[in-house]
Amino acid sequence: MQQLKTDITIRKFEERDYAGVVAVGNAIFPDRPGTVEEWRYDDEHYDKKCVNERYVAEDRSSGTTLGYAGLWHMAWSFHPRKFGMEIRVHPDHQRNGIGSALWLRLQEVLRDHQAIDVKTQIWEKMPSVIAFATRHGFHEVMRAWESRLEVGTFDFKRFIPHVHQALASGVTITTLTAERVRDAQNLKRIHAVDVELSADVPRPPDETRTPIDFNMWHDYTVEGPWSIGDAYFLAVVDGEYAGLSNLFKLKTGDWLNQGLTGVRRPYRGRHLATALKVKTVEYARDHGIREIRTFNEINNAPMLAINVKFGFVRQPAWITFMKEF
Ligand SMILES: CC(C)(COP(=O)(O)OP(=O)(O)OC[C@H]1O[C@@H](n2cnc3c(N)ncnc32)[C@H](O)[C@@H]1OP(=O)(O)O)[C@@H](O)C(=O)NCCC(=O)NCCS
Repeated sequence: MQQLKTDITIRKFEERDYAGVVAVGNAIFPDRPGTVEEWRYDDEHYDKKCVNERYVAEDRSSGTTLGYAGLWHMAWSFHPRKFGMEIRVHPDHQRNGIGSALWLRLQEVLRDHQAIDVKTQIWEKMPSVIAFATRHGFHEVMRAWESRLEVGTFDFKRFIPHVHQALASGVTITTLTAERVRDAQNLKRIHAVDVELSADVPRPPDETRTPIDFNMWHDYTVEGPWSIGDAYFLAVVDGEYAGLSNLFKLKTGDWLNQGLTGVRRPYRGRHLATALKVKTVEYARDHGIREIRTFNEINNAPMLAINVKFGFVRQPAWITFMKEF
């Protein structure tokens, strides 16, 4: 335990801290609130070979959580000495040195882990956080735009022909729910396609994508509290999975998040992604969902082109910053 100020203690996260850290996160990002159930599930199912730890900044007299810091190995591009991190301080308690105290603690932990670098994602609309990171030696390595589609504005008439064209050319569109009922082994096949497609999603230049372990994929994508098997669409060509596009739903909120969209290389340029994404919008419409949210790396021309055509509206960017040791 480390005393950093007379009134603040920085200590390791414990089970009893979930409500406090979720409240801090939600105070900072009220338009994407999380729940204790989701955070706990996330922690319990994260790849076990990975570091995934948290520290809390607590008011010593009241025991209130004022902020926290998280540190993890990136399961999707695992390297034993590369990490992701976040520092969050409740808006009512910012500019009191709590963020710096948490960063000090993280640096000790990073040193213990012999880290060679650490990355963090910062919202473009938070210049003070960007200034904090820059002051501490971080530099930009990647940028992603969030985009949002108002489901009610989607022009189905314009895009449904792409679905019909795809179906007429022998493509079948199915769902994860249907495929696992058909044959339980299909989950392994879908996992393999997910891994193959994920390798093509842009990442920061220093990262090498590593295949996500089947168990973690299963727990996150198939059985997660946010998973929707009926909104995980797959395109089948000649009996092979050729592409996929899936949505997931957080516990709170009237929107759906876009998960992975990908088409295997031999099948690209045949409007499969377009057809799959039309199915996702149809799903959202049929379930009374107001909005779909997605994130795309700013140079991912094919994906951005599709999203722009669909009517997704660009939001401020999330910037990945990295510090090397
Ligand atoms: C993005 C991706 C899914 C597109 O799949 P696809 O089936 O080839 O896409 P479509 O055939 O439906 O393309 C639809 C439109 O996208 C645009 N597009 C597709 N490929 C493009 C390219 N290489 N450059 C620019 N625009 C492109 C075009 O506007 C095209 O419409 P048009 O053919 O009528 O002009 C595919 O490139 C992919 O799997 N990429 C890797 C995974 C990834 O990055 N996913 C996004 C992050 S989750």
